[in-house]
Amino acid sequence: MRVLVTEPIVDSAIKKLESHFEVSIGKRGEFDQEQTLSKAAEEFDAILTMLSNPVTGNVLEAGKNKLKIVANYAVGYNNIDTAAASRLGIHVSNTPDVLTESTAEIALSLLLSTARKTREAEISLRDGQFNGWEPNGFIGIELHGAAVGIIGLGRIGQAFAKRVKTCGMNIHYYGRNRIEPEIEKELNATFHSVLDDMLQVVDALSIHCPLTDETHHLIGKNELSIMPSHAVLVNTARGPIVDESALAEALHDASIGGAGLDVFENEPEIHPRLLDAPNTVLLPHIGSATEKSRNAMGSLAADAIISILNGTRPPNLVV
Ligand code: NAP
Ligand code: GLV
Ligand code: GLV
Repeated sequence: MRVLVTEPIVDSAIKKLESHFEVSIGKRGEFDQEQTLSKAAEEFDAILTMLSNPVTGNVLEAGKNKLKIVANYAVGYNNIDTAAASRLGIHVSNTPDVLTESTAEIALSLLLSTARKTREAEISLRDGQFNGWEPNGFIGIELHGAAVGIIGLGRIGQAFAKRVKTCGMNIHYYGRNRIEPEIEKELNATFHSVLDDMLQVVDALSIHCPLTDETHHLIGKNELSIMPSHAVLVNTARGPIVDESALAEALHDASIGGAGLDVFENEPEIHPRLLDAPNTVLLPHIGSATEKSRNAMGSLAADAIISILNGTRPPNLVV
C-alpha cells in the first residue's frame, strides 16, 4: 500500500512507515493547495498531512475510492472537513497529549515576554539605549497576584493554568462547558459562562480552544475594548480565533497592553500592522517544536496509519 507524507517530518516516523508501506514524501508547501492534494487523495491509501494542507470536501471526494485515512501531524484539525470524511468513510486522526506541555511552555513564554516587556527592553538595549537602571523604564504586569483568563481549559489550557498558578496568578476561564469540579478546585479556577464578564477582570488572556465556526473571531473589536488597557493577549491556538485587524488596531491605539502570538489568521502571512505594533511578540507557529513532541507526534500519526491500513482502530481517531 502507498502512503504519502506531505512534507518531511521526523525520521523515526518515516522509518516506521517505510517498514510497512511504500512511502512518498512531498516537498514543503507542495500540498498546501487543494489541487495537488486532490490528486494525491486519488493515488494513496493514507496521507500524513500538515495543518497547512487543506483537506477539503473536494479533496476527500477525490479520495473516496482509495484513501482510508488522513493522519494530521497536529492536534488541531480545523484544516480537515471532518463531516465530509465521516460521510465518505475516510478516517481522520490527530496527535493529542504529546504536544500539550511543549505548547503550554510557548504560551507561558509569550505571557512572560509580553507582561514584562522583555522584547521591547532587549531591543532598546541592543539599540544602545541602556544608560543604567531606570526607575520608570519598561514597567510591566507582575504575574504574581494578577488575573489570567483562559479560553478553553482543555489539555493545553490546563497545562498552561498549572504553570501560571505556580507564578501566583489567579485563574479565570471561559468555555462552553464547566470542567470537572476537582480540577477547578485544584487550579482554584473561576468559571465564567459569559466571555465579556471574564474579559473585564483579566490582566492577561490566553487562548486554548480549537478553531471552529463558533470560535472564529471570538475575540474581535468589542472583546478587545472590554479588556483593561494594560492587559496582554496570548494566542497559541489558531489565528482566526482573533480578528487580527482589530487586534493590530487595539495594540496601536494602546487599548490593550501587548500581544504574544504563535499563530496567525492567514499563515504564513503576518498582518503588516502587527509587525510594527508595540509590545508584540510574534513566533512562527512553534508551539510543539521540541524533539520530544515532534517524535511522539510522528509516532502517533504513523501508528494510526499502520492500524487503519491493517484493519484495526487506533486510539487517536477524530473520525
Ligand atoms: P482540547 O483538549 O480539546 O481543549 C480545547 C478546549 O477548548 C476544551 O476544553 C473545549 O471544551 C474548549 N472549547 C471547545 N469549543 C469551545 C468554544 N466554542 N468556546 C470555548 N471553549 C471551547 O485541545 P488541546 O489539545 O488543548 O488543543 C487546543 C488547540 O490548541 C488545538 O485545537 C490547536 O488548534 C491548538 N494548538 C496549537 C499548537 C501550536 O503549535 N501553537 C500546538 C498544539 C495545539 P468543550 O469541548 O467542553 O467545549
Ligand atoms: C499545532 O498547531 C497543532 O494543532 O498541533
Ligand atoms: C534591582 O536590581 C534591585 O536590586 O532592586
